[in-house]
Amino acid sequence: AYLQEKELFQELRDLIVSLPAEKGWVANYLHQYQGFWHTTRQLQGVLACQKHFQAHHTDILLVTTPKSGTTWLKAIMFALMNRARFPDPKQHPLLTNNPHVLVPFLELEYIDTQFPDFTSFISPRLFSTHLPFVSLPKSVEDSGCKFVYLCRNPKDTFVSLWHFTNKLRKPKEKVENSLEEAFDKFCRGVSLCGPFWDHVLGYWKQSLEDPERVLFLKYEDLKKKPKALLRRLSEFLGCPFSQEEENYGVTDEILNLCSFDKLSNLEVNKTGKLPSGEENCTFFRRGEVGDSMNYLTADMLEKMDRITEQKLKSCGLSL
Ligand code: A3P
Repeated sequence: AYLQEKELFQELRDLIVSLPAEKGWVANYLHQYQGFWHTTRQLQGVLACQKHFQAHHTDILLVTTPKSGTTWLKAIMFALMNRARFPDPKQHPLLTNNPHVLVPFLELEYIDTQFPDFTSFISPRLFSTHLPFVSLPKSVEDSGCKFVYLCRNPKDTFVSLWHFTNKLRKPKEKVENSLEEAFDKFCRGVSLCGPFWDHVLGYWKQSLEDPERVLFLKYEDLKKKPKALLRRLSEFLGCPFSQEEENYGVTDEILNLCSFDKLSNLEVNKTGKLPSGEENCTFFRRGEVGDSMNYLTADMLEKMDRITEQKLKSCGLSL
């Protein structure tokens, strides 16, 4: 086993040095693999996941661009899909576990082991991922499992990611990431699972081709009409709310449990840490639409809008 691991490590190193690399703002280095940028650590997980993950037809994959509201939608989908198991809102696992623990990132599960144990997952299994469509394990495509995709306006996504990287750097480095440099990299596509626009388009096209299989959601819509989207999500996943549940207010119960105020004020999310080391509080900042206006200059806002229009408009998508 030791030799196998050594060979694997060598294989990984050979591959990584052969890939285009940039000094990262999200981590020390970003490597471009299959057209998208990953941190060194993440790439390790991506490769093993591509090789070994066995998808089931009944699996549900929550796919997001980083900082588009993953934590929120993880909570909502977990609460929605498990509502029969946890009917008592006072005893809900979300009250004592960060959503990233209840719904793990598939590729990160493969970082420290080639064969993570998913036997405790109850069917339908719910996983999340930041993987771009082209980099999904082949078994996912073959399985025909469903995807829920979430993205967000790139200006707010960028600002949220910039804050996140600063928080992650904090214990070691006193200075913040330069906003201008980070902005330039993000616009060039050099960002966690970037280029942002290519990531979005990969799934947008799939959702147009097969709307039964891919549900495409935007953070801004989820903020605006959470109840309508929760109902839509429940129908898409094949677990619609009964009239009795509607009368009882189950939809409101789920949305309240998963609201920014509720989750961010829980002890576990104020003081807890993920097994991977990040503090749970780093996933909750403001949770508002349009905060990028407070950080980006008029030129930056305009530049980002121009890129978004150029890349997405011809495909009938606006963000
Ligand atoms: P801001 O930095 O703009 O506040 P992700 O979960 O994909 O890492 O995204 C993090 C972003 O989602 C952060 O955005 C965070 O504040 C916001 N967020 C986290 N929980 C939320 C919730 N329950 N409702 C709305 N937004 C939430």
